[in-house]
Amino acid sequence: MDNLILVTGGAGFIGSHTCVALSAAGYRPLILDNLNNSDVRVLERLAKITGRPPSFIKGDVRDRTLLDRIFREHNISGVMHFAGLKAVGDSVTDPILYYGNNVTGALVLAEAMQAAAVKTLIFSSSATVYGTPERSPIPESAPCRPANPYGRSKRMVEQMLADLQHSQPDWRISLLRYFNPVGAHQSGLIGEHPLGNPNNLMPLVSQVAVGVRDQLAVHGNDYPTHDGTGIRDYVHVMDLAEGHVAALRHAASGPGLVTLNLSTGQGASVLDVVKAFERASGQRIAYEVGPRRPGDVAAYWGDPSLAQVTLGWRARRGMDQMCADTWRWQQQNPQGYESDGAL
Ligand code: NAD
Ligand code: WQD
Repeated sequence: MDNLILVTGGAGFIGSHTCVALSAAGYRPLILDNLNNSDVRVLERLAKITGRPPSFIKGDVRDRTLLDRIFREHNISGVMHFAGLKAVGDSVTDPILYYGNNVTGALVLAEAMQAAAVKTLIFSSSATVYGTPERSPIPESAPCRPANPYGRSKRMVEQMLADLQHSQPDWRISLLRYFNPVGAHQSGLIGEHPLGNPNNLMPLVSQVAVGVRDQLAVHGNDYPTHDGTGIRDYVHVMDLAEGHVAALRHAASGPGLVTLNLSTGQGASVLDVVKAFERASGQRIAYEVGPRRPGDVAAYWGDPSLAQVTLGWRARRGMDQMCADTWRWQQQNPQGYESDGAL
């Protein structure tokens, strides 16, 4: 069988949803995760959705000995590399932690793949590599000027993998730049459960709706946007997941390197998200407008047309569904995977 896909970071938010999409498309995911930002109970939830528990190995992607063993013992046809750290603020205070996890992780993985002659790789990159964009929608050809260590770690890995593919043209590499991933699987069984204090908008909005938090702090309403609040390109995590399956299918068509935005092409403001969440949940979202958040860009959204042409993929789920699915997950699991209500 050549449909076994190694999914590093597969217990996390985007990786777990991609495991569902992989299973639906006839692939078998093998998750490698150190559970540093995830909960092992996601595996039971995945089994419930797909009818079969995913194979799971607890371990670190920087562990070369472990990777060599995994490639030796399993007939892996491709790798999706989600494992990494993603909090921009933490990357500023502890850059070495971020370069170590994100850059060394990808390097050790690429070395092990090369040794095992597994040459299909899909990498989780981020719109954060663009830094402050000159215009929106942002095409993939826009200059990359990441503004923090997290973004630079993603850009370094992109460059390393491009050099690898250039030197060994039989590799099949997809660099997928996600915009703002939100939402949850429509079952409400899996979703995003940030450990510690979340910084991202959608988890905070849903925590206000469910009553875990009193109100949302809106970071500035004096931007040059239709309502003064920041605009982003929110993309449903199941659309992202399906984009990965499309990238895997594309890789099967031949070697090469593709760099693609996974985005909707549409921007929504903070208050647009608040209103959509109120509609989806029937709850009022209390908020208070505060100062701008340092480092924030007023508005950006991605140009998804290259992904559509290359992969035949486009985001199908809109903001109302992103909010409805987030709300179902949040309501059924107010404590994330510690809640047992959904099982
Ligand atoms: P997540 O934290 O939920 O998932 C990452 C998973 O990787 C976690 O389960 C964590 O335990 C695991 N992990 C971390 N370091 C590891 C290591 N060294 N070895 C093994 N496992 C390790 O994050 P996510 O939102 O699912 O993001 C997945 C990927 O997508 C990350 O690389 C992230 O940088 C990238 N990305 C995320 C976003 C976003 O806003 N969520 C946007 C763009 C790109
Ligand atoms: C969205 C909007 C905030 C919280 C980050 C990373 C990026 C990528 C995705 C990984 C902005 C506003 C937020 C709050 C608010 N991750 N906001 N009150 O900053 O666009 O992107 O996550 O690759 O690299 O930087 O996402 O969800 O934090 O913010 O008003 O309490 O919501 O100012 O306009 P961001 P976000």
